[in-house]
Amino acid sequence: MIIKHLLAALACAALTTTAGAAGKSAGNAEAGQQKAAACGGCHGVDGNSAPEIYAALKAPKLAGQVPEYIVKSLHDFKAGRRTNETMSPQAQAVAEADMADIAAYFASQKAKPGVAASKDALAQGEKIFFKGKGRPDTVAACVGCHGLGGIGNRDWSKVMSKAPVTLAPAIGGQHSGYIADQLKAYKAGKRSTDAGKIMRDIAGRLDEKDIAAVAEYIATLQR
Ligand code: HEC
Ligand code: HEC
Repeated sequence: MIIKHLLAALACAALTTTAGAAGKSAGNAEAGQQKAAACGGCHGVDGNSAPEIYAALKAPKLAGQVPEYIVKSLHDFKAGRRTNETMSPQAQAVAEADMADIAAYFASQKAKPGVAASKDALAQGEKIFFKGKGRPDTVAACVGCHGLGGIGNRDWSKVMSKAPVTLAPAIGGQHSGYIADQLKAYKAGKRSTDAGKIMRDIAGRLDEKDIAAVAEYIATLQR
């Protein structure tokens, strides 16, 4: 069983790498570094918001994020489809023309994984990440869309014609508190930026313990 899942995951990773190499970001990371100066105070200069900064400001890591997802998120905040009292005004200040460069800069940075606070939850979280959940609350494995190591996926549709989704963010190494908060927001319907209600549906089938466990596990991944 474990071998089977590992093989499936490796296949996903191979596909993800191919897709990533095929679709190079249009942004210029070097130009983006300067333009990203305004973001560093909360997200970290290299996109790795430190744990103590996260505790105070709740700003997620952006290092190693799929660049298209960063741009999509800025658009979501700017248009009011996603709201957050701290980030919404920040997005308003970003010029359309600068978004791709800023995204390329953070995408080019290496994410630093976190350390699990509770080792007990790790096994349950790993199981959900690689296998999802069985009946009655069936949940698809996170690895299928978010990739091995939670590195994200910029264009699934290029490699799978019947893909339900074209863009999945990098989540590996993200602060567990942020992952849990976003899952709870999807579950409560407070976040509805997911096309086809993909994440609302998945998070709706996870209970509090599942959410805490999978968030804890994902935070330890190297993306
Ligand atoms: C004052 C602090 C602050 C600053 C400055 C800031 N952000 Fe944020 N950002 C946040 C917070 C807090 C969140 C989490 C929002 C949420 O929970 O929905 C966030 C979320 C995001 C997200 C969504 C990430 C994800 O994984 O979904 C992106 C993308 C982002 N910020 C980009 C930027 C960029 C680019 C800049 C600079 C132009 C910037 N932010 C400046 C606080 C900040
Ligand atoms: C069918 C594909 C698919 C599966 C399976 C999937 N996701 Fe997602 N996930 C997405 C997409 C697409 C988004 C971006 C949606 C958006 O823009 O709001 C996303 C967003 C997220 C986010 C928000 C990330 C951020 O930076 O704000 C988290 C956290 C997340 N997923 C966790 C999970 C977990 C945990 C699982 C497994 C239980 C999972 N996902 C399974 C496609 C998927």
